[in-house]
Amino acid sequence: MIEQFKEAVNNGLSTPHKNLPSKYFYDKKGDALFVKIMGLPEYYLTRAEHDIFKNQTSNIITSLKLEKDTYFELIELGAGNGTKTKELLKLLSKEGYNFDYLPVDISQNALDNLENNLKTELPFVSVKTKQGDYFEVLESLRHSKHPKVILFLGSNIGNMNDAIASIFMQNLSANLNLGDKLFLGVDLIKSEDIVLPAYNDSQGVTAAFNLNLLDRINKELDADFNRNNFIHTPTYNEKEGIAKSYITSTINQDVHIKAINKTFSFIKNEKIHLEISRKYNDEILNNIITNTQFNIKNKLSDSNNYFANYILEIE
Ligand code: TRP
Repeated sequence: MIEQFKEAVNNGLSTPHKNLPSKYFYDKKGDALFVKIMGLPEYYLTRAEHDIFKNQTSNIITSLKLEKDTYFELIELGAGNGTKTKELLKLLSKEGYNFDYLPVDISQNALDNLENNLKTELPFVSVKTKQGDYFEVLESLRHSKHPKVILFLGSNIGNMNDAIASIFMQNLSANLNLGDKLFLGVDLIKSEDIVLPAYNDSQGVTAAFNLNLLDRINKELDADFNRNNFIHTPTYNEKEGIAKSYITSTINQDVHIKAINKTFSFIKNEKIHLEISRKYNDEILNNIITNTQFNIKNKLSDSNNYFANYILEIE
C-alpha cells in the first residue's frame, strides 16, 4: 500500500504536468471532510440524488421492472453510509420484495458501520456485505444467475475520465447477464455559477479536503510540504462539462519527500492536478456505453434538473 502510494506520488510529481491521484484523498481525515462536503449548502449533488430517492421511490422500483415474487440481488458499488439507498430499501422491504442487499466497499470499516445501522433501522432487510475491489466482487458474483440490480451513485463515475469510464462500463457489462440493470447516478451539465461553488465552497471545506493530501504525503512519506504555500484552485468548463480540482503553488519552492529520496521544485503559479468531476448528458453517456451491452432505458431527475439517475439494462 505504502509502496503504491510512493510510486503514484513520485510518478505524478515527476511529469511536466504535475498530478496526484485522488484515490488517496480518503484517509481518516479525508473521509470526515468528505462527509462535511456532502452537507455543504453549495454541494447540491447529494441532496439532489437524495431528492430522487425520497420523492420518486416507487418510480425507481417501476423503472427497474422489479417483481415481488422474483428474487434479485441489489448490489451497491461504494456504498458509503447508505443514506439514499435506505429510502429504496425501506419501500422494497415494506412492500415485500424478495432480495438481498449487497453493499460493496473497499473499506471494511465503512461496511461494518452500514451493517450495524441497517440492523437497527431496517431489521427485515437481508444485508450481505462484500469487502473488496468492485471487479473482484462482481467476478465472484458473476456465476449466480439471479437477476441483479447494480447501484453506482453519487456521480462517482464522473471521477473517471471518459476512456476509463468506458472501460469500467465494459467490465461491468461483461460481469452481468441479460436483463440485469444498472442504476447510475450522474451530475448533469449545467452552468458554472451552480457547478463551480460545489467544488469551491465558501467555508473552505473542499479546499481543506484537497490540501489534506499534502498533509498525508507529509505524514506517510515524510515530506515537508508547507500547506500555506499552496491554494485550492478548481475550474469548470461548461462547454466540455468537466470540473477539475488543482492545487497551485503560490511561490517558487522546493519540497523534499524523504521516502522517495527526492526534491521536487514548484514554480510560482504551477498547478498540481488532483481530480476531475465529469458532468453528463444523454449523448456523453451513450458514447461511454458504446462498446457494452448496456442500453439506456429510463432517466429520473431531481426537481431542479441538476442530477439524474439513469436506468441501463443489459440487452
Ligand atoms: N463524485 C463526487 C463528485 O465528483 C464526489 C467527489 C469526489 C468530490 N471527489 C470530490 C466532491 C472532491 C468534492 C471534491 O462530486
